[in-house]
Amino acid sequence: MHDKYGPSRLRARHDKIHATDEAVTELASFKAKPINFKIGFWDPEVNGTRYLKALLYNLAADLSDENWKRLRRIGNRDIGNPITITYDGEPVCMDYLLSVLELDFIARHVELDGSRALEIGAGYGRTCHTVLSNHDVREYHIIDLPSSLKLSSGYLRSVLPQEQFSRIHFTSIHDVDTRYADTRFDVSLNINSFAEMNEETIDAYLALIDVHSDYFYIRDPVGKYLDPSLDGHAEGREIVEMALSTGKLRDVIDIHDNRAIAARTPAFVDAYRPGPRWTCVADGWFRPWSYYWQALYGKDQAEQLTLGAQADDEPRP
Ligand SMILES: C[S@@+](CC[C@H](N)C(=O)[O-])C[C@H]1O[C@@H](n2cnc3c(N)ncnc32)[C@H](O)[C@@H]1O
Repeated sequence: MHDKYGPSRLRARHDKIHATDEAVTELASFKAKPINFKIGFWDPEVNGTRYLKALLYNLAADLSDENWKRLRRIGNRDIGNPITITYDGEPVCMDYLLSVLELDFIARHVELDGSRALEIGAGYGRTCHTVLSNHDVREYHIIDLPSSLKLSSGYLRSVLPQEQFSRIHFTSIHDVDTRYADTRFDVSLNINSFAEMNEETIDAYLALIDVHSDYFYIRDPVGKYLDPSLDGHAEGREIVEMALSTGKLRDVIDIHDNRAIAARTPAFVDAYRPGPRWTCVADGWFRPWSYYWQALYGKDQAEQLTLGAQADDEPRP
């Protein structure tokens, strides 16, 4: 019989399946269990895309006018079928949203127009695409593994006009020393890739930057994590072991504890300084990822810095 104040069929089903006698008396641990996932709808197991889109939506809502302009200048972002949300009529995906936040930081400290830039480990080329779409960069060099170069050269050729594409130079890791023996770069970039390299490889790249570049931007994790609830260790123990062994900052921390993160940031700034002549011009938290830090270093810059004012201008987590 219909109950005047009764539940809908949907709630009755939840009730039957999840609100069992056992579940409603299990106060010690009910909050991360199905009964509570039908009270608050935030079950992380089934809501991956919802969380990604919610995060994207919130980041898009907070973008500055300048960053909206940067994002809108980047054409063909739909190529590759990214996961997007729509904000003010504009499709927004995570990769390019992060790219404009990175560019925002870099462009505050480095003159990119007319520059020769070097990126180490470019993935499919989102940073190159973002920089070339926003700045009249003279040359953009990418050093990467041959397989990644195939992806980035194909992608960048398809998203950029020919004139901009012709300013990009793709260099395999096997040709670095011969190719760049006499080249000077205004700025070198490394985003989310030193952390997956062996320490000796990072040192070799830092030595290259030390000799050949004037500025260096890095955005990378401040440490490792070992919490299986974050990724289910889905790829198995062996991959976890490999991931723990790469990069320069290998201490395992709670990457969602702001004090644990803050304690590692001096080591981050120190680890990626290319050499003694380099000064950290600015560093700060790279939102939205709690444990990512970004830093911009300049060579022979110490005397030009208004000490303290610039070096501390980023928000802390
Ligand atoms: C996680 S992806 C990040 C890509 C890009 N920076 C981004 O944030 O979208 C890491 C990149 O580093 C590159 N990489 C890994 N080991 C490398 C090495 N030894 N030398 C140069 N690039 C390397 C990979 O091929 C890939 O392009």
